[in-house]
This record gives sequence, structure tokens and C-alpha cells, in this order.
Amino acid sequence: MAEILLRDMPEFQALEAHFETIEKTHLRELFADDPKRGETFALNAEGLYFDYSKNRITAETVKLLVALAEASGLKAKIEAMFTGEKINITENRAVLHVALRSAPNEVINLDGVNQVPLVHEVLDAMSAFCNKIRSGEWKGFTGKPIKNIVNIGIGGSDLGPVMAYEALKYYTQRDLNFRFVSNVDSTDFVEATYDLNAEETLFIVASKTFTTLETMTNAHSARAWTLAELKDEKSIAKHFVALSTNAEAVTRFGIDTANMFGFWDWVGGRYSMDSAIGLSTMLAIGPVQFKEMLAGFHAMDEHFRTTEFAKSLPVVLGMLTVWYNDFFNAQTVAVLPYEQYLKRFPAYLQQLTMESNGKHVTLSGAQVTYETGPIFWGEPGTNGQHSFYQLIHQGTKLIPCDFIGFFETLNPLGDHHTFLMSNVFAQAEALAFGKTAEELEAEKVPEALIPHKTFEGNRPSNIILADKLTPEVLGKLVALYEHSVFVQGCVWQIDSFDQWGVELGKVLANRIIPELKSDSELKHDSSTNKLIAMYREKNK
Ligand code: F6P
Repeated sequence: MAEILLRDMPEFQALEAHFETIEKTHLRELFADDPKRGETFALNAEGLYFDYSKNRITAETVKLLVALAEASGLKAKIEAMFTGEKINITENRAVLHVALRSAPNEVINLDGVNQVPLVHEVLDAMSAFCNKIRSGEWKGFTGKPIKNIVNIGIGGSDLGPVMAYEALKYYTQRDLNFRFVSNVDSTDFVEATYDLNAEETLFIVASKTFTTLETMTNAHSARAWTLAELKDEKSIAKHFVALSTNAEAVTRFGIDTANMFGFWDWVGGRYSMDSAIGLSTMLAIGPVQFKEMLAGFHAMDEHFRTTEFAKSLPVVLGMLTVWYNDFFNAQTVAVLPYEQYLKRFPAYLQQLTMESNGKHVTLSGAQVTYETGPIFWGEPGTNGQHSFYQLIHQGTKLIPCDFIGFFETLNPLGDHHTFLMSNVFAQAEALAFGKTAEELEAEKVPEALIPHKTFEGNRPSNIILADKLTPEVLGKLVALYEHSVFVQGCVWQIDSFDQWGVELGKVLANRIIPELKSDSELKHDSSTNKLIAMYREKNK
């Protein structure tokens, strides 16, 4: 499709005009006008209940947002993704994370080769390996079974695995001890391995490229740490596995490719938690439950591919993000899971959303004239309520919120779950409806305090609910956000699958590394020169 800039599209302009009519409308009015609004603006699909009634929208808004999605070529783009077209144009790559959760009998061709059997071959190899570790059949170099698993990776090779491990902890084999090392800060490695012994420890070196500075540095330290105790190069084969697309670099590092689980350049780092990068997840929950998670992803993929836009969870979620981002000028989205196990979900979503849609030019390289990806952030409930919710309720910024909750808890204990869920419903209600000066007067609140105690309300939120957190539900939730990001990127006409913005810092750090260790002449700006000089002085 030829690029017509978003602002020139009649569908975008129709939304601009519509925004003028709705901007001042309060959610109180919208709910008063339609006693069934709470049901009208709700979707129930794939075991997820999605209540989007507390958004500043009418049926007309939804119609116009769907029209914009259609005019953006979303239908064709979804097909292009699912059929392996090279839609990551700046890297000339297909974007096929959906193939990672395909059924064995599906056919997804890329350059004439069906990728599905390749995916299942790796899954089978991962399963066989996980069964050996989990059963104790795999022995370390000194003959002891593995008890500790340390995943070394960063970005997509860390955030997905950590999030999934924490999210699914309830389902994990508890006699295995999992650690995750990502930061190049030595403290991360030292603390993660502090109380471990090499005899019972397996390192997973997770890196798509196998060149990332942080991961390679940590992997080399892990190697040295292992050899310091086991004192034999041959021990590496029993204590190291690699997850990568780069077999050559894996071999060069000294890991036998027999101990490597591969994936492909069509898996983006932030879309890789269900590829071989998920080995730690599979070790934790076992192959059967890992496959249940994949089935959850797949169910959401099918929903996304086949459901009409107005009823599609990822499309509605994605277009609501566009609505607040581009029309209300909201800068951020808060993701608030009311589920302790999802404590790392916001951090995971930050890479997924912001590395994908933090772009300033369109696919053809033109500067965008509208806002693209918002800032995603969040904390699990109810902790956030006693911290930053004040600003969401009464601050000057509009912050759309996604509340995520479950009807059942995995750990029933007294009234905890009732209290937890009452807070989800109460927060969304308070944000939407607020509290008026009249209500406060009726409560005889002193006049001077009325402005302080007034909640203007009209603050939008979504509520996503499921029965309980299972591997399958986690797969659905992650795929929901993955596809929502895709929808947004499609409307903004950007490449959601590259990440050139992380390169410059890496290049400059590589230039500075030798400068910190020498007395060479410094040719940076005056600030950088001074900082380097001070570091040199302190580390003489
Ligand atoms: O820094 C950006 C990035 O390339 C991410 O996109 C990626 O998830 C991360 O680095 C790690 O990359 P790798 O898996 O190749 O080590």
C-alpha cells in the first residue's frame, strides 16, 4: 500500500473531528445515557473478559477507530505477518513469532521452506533436555544432578524468561533453583551465584546474536567461575547450554552445538520468550505446561487473525492506545496487574511496547507528524495504590490504565483475594466517576478541603479478567499485547520490529571501553572528556 501519511487520511481526520465532540464528555454522562454500557463495551474471548466501558468513547468512536484500522491496511498486514512476508523492512526479515506456537500440521513457508517442522524439532529437543534435567538423569561433571539454573541474557533474552518464571512460579518444580543474570554490572553475576556450587549449576547462555556485550561478559565470567571449581575444560559441556541463532559464535565460545537450542532471525528478541529462549521456562514448568502456554499464544493468534476488528481483543486494545496517544495526547499507559505472580509483567511489556513502537520515522523513512509509542510502566496492585496512584487520580496528566485480575487466586488465604479484587473494581470506578464537590458538601466536608478532596474522574481504564493464572492464560495475555503493539505500529506506519535506537549507545560504549583503561587523548565533548578523566583518576 502506498504510504498516505496518517494525518492526511480521512479516517484520521474523522477521528479528529469526533474528538472535539467527545473531549469534554464525562464518563458519568456516558454511563448515565446507557444503563447497559458496562456490557455493551465488553468482549469475552479466549477465556479473557475485556471490559473497556470505562473509556472515553462512544459506539461512534469504536466505529471510527475500526475504520482507521481498516484504512491502515491492518487486515492485509496481519496476513503478511502470518504468511512470512518480510514486514520488518529495515532488516529485511519476516516476523514469524506466530510460527513458534503453530500446530505441528500447519504450513508456514518462508523462502519456500516450511518453518513449522523446524520449530517442532527444536521444541522436541528442548523437551528431551528438560526431562533429563528435571528427572536428575542429566549429571554434572562430578556426577551430581543439576539443582541450580542460571539464565544469562539481556533484553528479550532475559525479560521474557524472568517474567514467565515469576508468572508461573506456582507451576514450577520447586527443587530447582532459578536465577537470572542480565546486567553487565558484576554485582548481578556475583549475587546470583553467591551461594551456588558449580557442581550442581547449569548456565543457560541466551543470546540471539551471541555478541551482546553484557551477555558475553557474564558468560565468560560464568565460565571462569565454573572452571575455578571444576578445574577441567570438559566440565563446560555438562554445565553450559546456549540459546542462539549464531551457531558459529556459540562454538567459538566453547559450547558444543549439541548443547545449543536454535531459533531463527525471524524471531525478534522481544518476541522470543516462546522460542528456545524459553528454555528456562520449560525447565521450570516442564514441557507439558510449556506447550499449554504455547497453546494459549496460538489461541490468541487465531483470534487476532480471524476475528472482525470490532470484536478483536488486540485490535480494540491497540486502537484505544492510539486513541489516547494521538488524540488526547496521553504520554503513558499504566499496566497494573492485581496478581503478585505478574510482578515482572510491566517490565516485560516495556521492552515489548517501547522497543517496538518507539520510532520517529515511517516505513519509508519520513518523519512522523504525530505521536507514536507511549511510555508503558506499572507495578502490581495493590502496591501502586500506596505510591503513584495519587497522580493518576488527581494529577494533571491523563494516564490510561490496564487493570489485570483473576477471579480465583492460586493461593487462597482468608479474605486476601476478596480484598485484592475489590481494589481492582474500586480503583477503576474511582478513576472513572471520581467524587464531586456536591458529594463532598453533602458529606459536610469543610469548604477549604473540598478542592483537595475532589476527584474529577473521567480517567479511562480497561479491565482484563481471567479465571486464574495458568500457563495457557499467560500465553494469551502476552499474545494479546504483542498483537496490540502490531495494531498500533500498523496505524503509525512504523517498523515495529527493528531497534536501531539501541545501536548508537553500544557503539559509543565500545569506543569508551579502551579509553577508560588507557591514557589516550580524549576527543569527546567537554562533558564526556571530564567524566572519563575523573574515572581514570579514581581507578589509577
Ligand atoms: O539492545 C537491544 C537488543 O538487541 C534487544 O532487542 C535484544 O532483546 C537484546 O538486545 C539482546 O540481544 P541478544 O539476544 O542478541 O543478546
